[in-house]
Amino acid sequence: MDVILIEGGKRLKGEVVISGAKNSTLPIMAATILTDGLNRLENVPQVKDISTMGTLLERLGADIHIEGNNLNINTKHIDSYEAPYELVKTMRASILVLGPLVARFHKAKVSLPGGCAIGPRPVDLHLKALKLMGVDIEIDKGYIIARCSKLRGASIYFDVPTVGGTENTMMAAVLAKGTTVIENAAKEPEVVELSEVLSKMGAKIRGAGTDTITIEGVRYLKPVSHVLRSDRIEAGTYMVASAITHGNVLIKRCPIEYMDAIVEKLKQAGVEIEKEKGGVRVKGTSEITPVNIKTLPYPGFPTDMQAQMMALLCLAKGSSVITETIFENRFMHIAELNRMGADIRIEGESAIIKGVKSLKGAPVMATDLRASACLVLAGLAAKGETQISRIYHLERGYENIEEKLRKLGANIRREKANENN
Ligand code: UD1
Repeated sequence: MDVILIEGGKRLKGEVVISGAKNSTLPIMAATILTDGLNRLENVPQVKDISTMGTLLERLGADIHIEGNNLNINTKHIDSYEAPYELVKTMRASILVLGPLVARFHKAKVSLPGGCAIGPRPVDLHLKALKLMGVDIEIDKGYIIARCSKLRGASIYFDVPTVGGTENTMMAAVLAKGTTVIENAAKEPEVVELSEVLSKMGAKIRGAGTDTITIEGVRYLKPVSHVLRSDRIEAGTYMVASAITHGNVLIKRCPIEYMDAIVEKLKQAGVEIEKEKGGVRVKGTSEITPVNIKTLPYPGFPTDMQAQMMALLCLAKGSSVITETIFENRFMHIAELNRMGADIRIEGESAIIKGVKSLKGAPVMATDLRASACLVLAGLAAKGETQISRIYHLERGYENIEEKLRKLGANIRREKANENN
């Protein structure tokens, strides 16, 4: 298995181009199941999660043709309704095929995702919504077996706003008979982009991006062509990369209009962020101010940027508090950061980060996608060499991260390591 080696201390300078949004692409790929023909998606990031979703669609019978960052998905010959355990266990977002399969074929068999490194992550709200729409749900040998004779619109209230649950419900409701109202819906930009694509297919949706989404079912949806927007979490990660190395980086194709909470917290920390022609310029500061952060559903501070911000705040002049309210167990990176000389302790849902003068390179282990990004960022700032193992987590969501960082001047390389890594 490969490891990433970073010799820290280089100031990042230059330009980086942000790839298409992974978390928009995944539900939109699933949404192509609702159509019966050739769909085209452009600006798709070449990352592992996207190829896993591609493999899943192929298992269902779709034909997929990849041309660089463009995907042609032909859904005409779908003839299987099963998302098997071996794929779902590698990517929880596989659950997103449930709504579209039930909507188009009135049946689906999808493995239950189970827990993951950042907590139990149930799918009860996805299932509750489908049940209210007339779907019969049974759990058998670890699989969700869903069947219905007719899908009907329903009033659905989510106890917590769930991104995947909102997306799955929207994708079922677009072909249901009657009107579906989702209350306390997730408002993330990825939900809005999915709604735009479904509308292009011919769906009738109002309110995506607000708490209440109303969907009037239609009988048929047509294939679409769509260019994916940029990834706000990847952009935020490069903002921190510039900030943590006292760098000066122009972030191109930066979706800053969806990044208010991230930009606000970075500015509070003393980072300079300015829009300019061609992108957003991010300049680091020699003295990072401590800030307090609470992760919240959009438009609050995203949980997917929590670990990266923590890497930066390790070097602040004073103490910061980060409170994680979305996922219970999303602090696995703390023990690794402490191995690099950080001073962080956990108190319930909060991490108390006492700033230190510098981090020191060390062998560390990635535990999930954003935790891996956090360790890369810490490694960029640390004195000496950081060796990160289990980097397959990083490959799930960051396109060409080593190459992009190298172009900015980082000393980063990949090596084969022994079996124990
Ligand atoms: C999506 C993102 C992920 C991000 C997360 C929160 C994708 C592919 N993934 O994940 O990167 O970290 O949003 O912004 O877009 N919950 C329930 N029951 C359910 C569903 C969710 O209790 O049926 C809870 C979860 O445990 C969590 C909260 O709701 O506490 C939010 O989770 P959710 O928004 O569903 O996350 P995902 O869609 O899985």
